Amino acid sequence: MISFAPLSDGLGVEARGIDLATLDDAAFAELECAFFRGHVLAIRAQTLAPREFVALARRFGPPEPHVIDQFHHPDDPNILILSNRRRDGRPVGLADAGTYFHTDYSYLPVPARATLLYSIEVPSRGGDTLFANQVAAYDDLPDATKRRIDPLVAIHHYGNRNNLDDATRTVASVLSADQEARMPLVTHPIVRAHPVTGRKALYAVSGSSFGIVGMPDGEARALLDELAAHATHPRYCYAFTYGPGDVVVWDNASLLHSATLTDPDDPRTLWRITVKEPALAGAVIAPRFSGTTM
Ligand SMILES: [Fe+2]
Repeated sequence: MISFAPLSDGLGVEARGIDLATLDDAAFAELECAFFRGHVLAIRAQTLAPREFVALARRFGPPEPHVIDQFHHPDDPNILILSNRRRDGRPVGLADAGTYFHTDYSYLPVPARATLLYSIEVPSRGGDTLFANQVAAYDDLPDATKRRIDPLVAIHHYGNRNNLDDATRTVASVLSADQEARMPLVTHPIVRAHPVTGRKALYAVSGSSFGIVGMPDGEARALLDELAAHATHPRYCYAFTYGPGDVVVWDNASLLHSATLTDPDDPRTLWRITVKEPALAGAVIAPRFSGTTM
């Protein structure tokens, strides 16, 4: 018997009484409704093999392997290993991934619908994921601001516009030259209607948005920064704390999220799968990121 409980006043729902390894279609339909309703869906203390985790993800959408291919799971490239562990002096996974507000794959023409994290190893302290409700943030904007930003289109490329210093832990995970060459320059509306619910939300005003089509750089950055400050105000935020085996699924069309830094010597490992929108594309405006600022 599945039951649901809110994770906070603003967003998030926890599903109880579920074994994700043996989920039938009727139970998944209930989960998916809760996911779209709550934006963040959590199912605690699961035991999943890689193929079971991938099978679960496929029910939410088509998986898209991450560009950082050196940390793909050996059993399935759709799983990205997030970990601060090292073996023989070399990292076994991606550490410090996404420690700034962003939404996944907003730098791709077909952005992410959902990201699934499966908590393998929990640090003794910290490691929460922060979520910010972009539907509520949009709803609260003054009508004049809505009218101003509704038609605007942002220019995206891989990266964190607030930190481009590769030597820091809050930069976007550093790409090889080959990986960077595969990254396009794309556009997405600043205000997007949710592909399923139709609710309008601010979209990726923090993270990979570096400019606005037809707007001078300084003006565009100021507007994006103003919107990002509003969109990540604590009144829109919720922090999820992981236990071992927890599975969290979040809606990239209606949220910003941020990882939080943990002690590099405090072991932590998660598996991640990101699934694309089944059909929804921004425009590719250049075949790849040129490396220049806009
Ligand atoms: Fe992320």
